[in-house]
Amino acid sequence: MSVPYYEPTLAGREREYLDEVLSAKQLAGDGKFTKACHAWLEEKTGAVRALLTHSGTGALDMIGLLLEIEPGDEVIMPSYTFVSTANAIALRGGVPVFVDIRADTLNIDENLIEQAITPRTRAIMPVHYAGVGCEMDAIMTLAAKHGLAVAEDAAQGFGAFYRGKALGTFGALSALSFHASKNVVAGEGGALLVNDPAYRLRAEIVREKGTNRSQFFRGEVDKYTWVDLGSSFLPSEITAALLLAQLEQAEAINQRRVALWGRYHEALRPLEARGLARRAEIPQHCAHNGHIYWLVFESGELRARARDLLVAQGIMASAHYAPLHSSPAGQRLGRAASAMKVADHVGEGLLRMPLYAHMPDDVIERTAAALAAL
Ligand SMILES: Cc1ncc(COP(=O)(O)O)c(C=O)c1O
Repeated sequence: MSVPYYEPTLAGREREYLDEVLSAKQLAGDGKFTKACHAWLEEKTGAVRALLTHSGTGALDMIGLLLEIEPGDEVIMPSYTFVSTANAIALRGGVPVFVDIRADTLNIDENLIEQAITPRTRAIMPVHYAGVGCEMDAIMTLAAKHGLAVAEDAAQGFGAFYRGKALGTFGALSALSFHASKNVVAGEGGALLVNDPAYRLRAEIVREKGTNRSQFFRGEVDKYTWVDLGSSFLPSEITAALLLAQLEQAEAINQRRVALWGRYHEALRPLEARGLARRAEIPQHCAHNGHIYWLVFESGELRARARDLLVAQGIMASAHYAPLHSSPAGQRLGRAASAMKVADHVGEGLLRMPLYAHMPDDVIERTAAALAAL
C-alpha cells in the first residue's frame, strides 16, 4: 500500500461540528466557531489576540500591511523558506533580504543577521522550520539593539516551544498555518497572533477589508466605515468548525508525531554514521512538534537515488524548498546578504519522510530498510 508523505488526521469531532455549521446555515466568518478558535488559541498561546485567516499566507500578508512596509524597506529572513514569507514583504514593495541557515536545524543563522542590517532594515522574520524554534534569545536581542520589529513565520511551529515559550509568541506579530499538510489542519487556514497590543485594533481592521466592522459589532462605534488599508483575510465558519475539532486534538496529534519523529531518528542513525545523510539536531532548549522528519543527503544525486528506493516501496518521500535567493523572483525582488552554502546544499539534498499522526509504525522500518540499500 502506498504511503503519502502527509495526510490529515481526523480523529475528533470534525463531522459533528461541520454538521452543526451546515444545519445552522451560518457560513460566513466570525461566527461561533471562529470565536471559539480565537479563544482557544489565545488561551493556549497567551497571545493578546488571535485572529483566524484563510491561510498562513494571508496571516503573513497581514503582517506586511501591519508593519507598514514601504517600497525599499528591507526585511531579513532565511533563504530556505516558503515563498509566502517573502511575498508578504515584496507585495508591499519591500525587499526580502535573504541570509543563510544553520545546518543543524535549517533555521535562519542568527550569527548572520547583524551583518545584513542596513539603514533600510525594518524587521526580522524568523521561520521555525519543521517546528523547531529559531534562536529567539539572540534574535530578540539583536532586534532590540537595532530597533527592528520581529514577526515570526510560525506556519510550521504550532504547539512547539523555545525555552518553554510557545513559538509564535516572541515577535510583535506571527503567522500560523493550518494548511492540510500541517499538524493541525483546516484544509486551507491560518491565524495571525498579535503579541504586541499596539497592533491589536489595526489587526482586526486590516482583516476586515480595512473597515472598523469589529468595533461596530462590539458597539464601540455607531456605524462602520473604511478606515485603513485591508483585505478579506477571514475564513468561513466551515473552516473554523473543522479547525476547532482539530485544535481539541492538537496535543494528542503533536505527541504522536513527536514519538514517530523519534523513531525515525533512531532508525535512520546508520545513514548518518555511514556519511550519506545528515539528521536534524534539536537544541536542548527546543521542544519541537514533530512536523517534518528530514534528511539532508550529501548530494542531489544521492537524494534522487534515495527517493527512487522509497517510491519503489510505495513510500512517498518529498523534497522541500528551492532556496529563494536564487529563484527568479527572489533574484528580481530580493537581495542575498550572505553566502548561501547551507541553503544551497539543503535545497539539493533534503528529503522529507512520510509523517502523520495515524501513520502505521512499520512505515519507519520499511523506510530504514529501503534506504539501507543506498
Ligand atoms: C514556512 C511557511 N510559511 C508560510 C506557509 C504558508 O501557509 P499556507 O499554506 O497556510 O498559506 C507555509 C505553509 O505552506 C510554510 O511552511
